[in-house]
Amino acid sequence: MIALGSDHAGYELKREIMKYLDEKGLKYKDYGTYGPESADYPVYGEKAARAVASGECDRGILVCGTGVGIGIAANKVRGIRCATVSDCYSAEMARRHNDANMVAVGARVVGVGLALKIIEIFLETPSEGGRHAKRAGLIMDIENR
Ligand code: RB5
Repeated sequence: MIALGSDHAGYELKREIMKYLDEKGLKYKDYGTYGPESADYPVYGEKAARAVASGECDRGILVCGTGVGIGIAANKVRGIRCATVSDCYSAEMARRHNDANMVAVGARVVGVGLALKIIEIFLETPSEGGRHAKRAGLIMDIENR
């Protein structure tokens, strides 16, 4: 199950992402916002992030205008490693090296085609483990200090 979240700026792109996930037969749960009216990105970033952190969802995809604000909000939730990404290489490495469990994209930064490619890479790329798993663990240790 994939957790989705966006603000108003990300709402239309989130709908495109839903269409893409439907076509792929992938299940998702949308944690809002549910319309194009102005909405506060931290609210929806947190909701989707809590679904991932609790294990209710395996991964999360977030969208706001830049992907930055909603990504920062998600990373405040314990257990979340959210990467704000606007290119394919970073999407791949966010999985391989950082074991990112959420990705954030900016609807005002990337077009639909690139956003969907980023999401495809994020969903299909495994984490490399090894020394990278140790480093991801060190990131999570920061939450406990
Ligand atoms: C909303 O105007 C915008 O600030 C928001 O979507 C996002 O880009 C914040 O990081």
